[in-house]
Amino acid sequence: MNARRDALNGRNRPIGVFDSGIGGITVLKALRKALPHEDLVYLGDTARLPYGTKSPETVTAYATQATKHLLGHDVKMIVIACNTASAVALGPLTQALAPIPVIGVIEPGAKAGVKATKTGRIGIIATEATVKGGAYARAIHALMPEAEVSQAACGLFVTLAEEGWTKGEVAEAAAKRYLAPLFKGRNAPDTLVLGCTHFPVLARTIKKVAGKGVKLVDSAATTAKAVEEALARQDLTAKHKRKGKTRFLATDSTERFARVGGIFFGEEIRVKDVELVDIKPT
Ligand code: DGL
Repeated sequence: MNARRDALNGRNRPIGVFDSGIGGITVLKALRKALPHEDLVYLGDTARLPYGTKSPETVTAYATQATKHLLGHDVKMIVIACNTASAVALGPLTQALAPIPVIGVIEPGAKAGVKATKTGRIGIIATEATVKGGAYARAIHALMPEAEVSQAACGLFVTLAEEGWTKGEVAEAAAKRYLAPLFKGRNAPDTLVLGCTHFPVLARTIKKVAGKGVKLVDSAATTAKAVEEALARQDLTAKHKRKGKTRFLATDSTERFARVGGIFFGEEIRVKDVELVDIKPT
């Protein structure tokens, strides 16, 4: 009986989710919708944002610290809700944390891109680090070897998203400048993968610039599906029937996190519900 109670308690532990900032809340929102009974702990490493301009070594170190902090919350699974961290740290973290499952956003994003394309021409827009690492092209080619993958680094979108400047002339000018090289030839992509969890809040502006015929996909819903499947596979799905709780942690200004994070979450985040944490090694 005790063993059974322990196993059930194990399944009722929260899922840890992290990103460099508030962008990963786009994934959190999809998790909240797909897994209404799961408890979620979201960590935004806002003090050290952006990750996308940093070296793989630095991003891996930050991702490891974020993960360690979440393990302190007794999480049963880690979701890397950041493409940059997924691109460089998914392998090492998966190894280090086994048997605790670690889910990244690149494979689910690649899957969404492959499903959406009709021509096999897929554009990836992401941070500089994600583009440089080539993880998206590898993940797409593993699913669709004949795919033509083009990429553009759009780092300023992260700042615009964190600033809440998701529409208007500044966001449009940035989108025009970033997307022009992808759409200049005859072999333009018919699908754009938003390869950074900050970008979905700019989707309307990106769509306006890319044109009606271009499909935009992101990894939020497909990641939520991958999490749901991994929980079921490992017998980790929460057994309680109450509504899942969402807890927010940030490494810098809780006020800013609540204010801008609410835009990403699609519902109010109260400042008092965000806890300031220090995840740096002591
Ligand atoms: N949201 C992150 C991503 O998905 C990175 C943004 C950043 O910190 O540069 O890549």
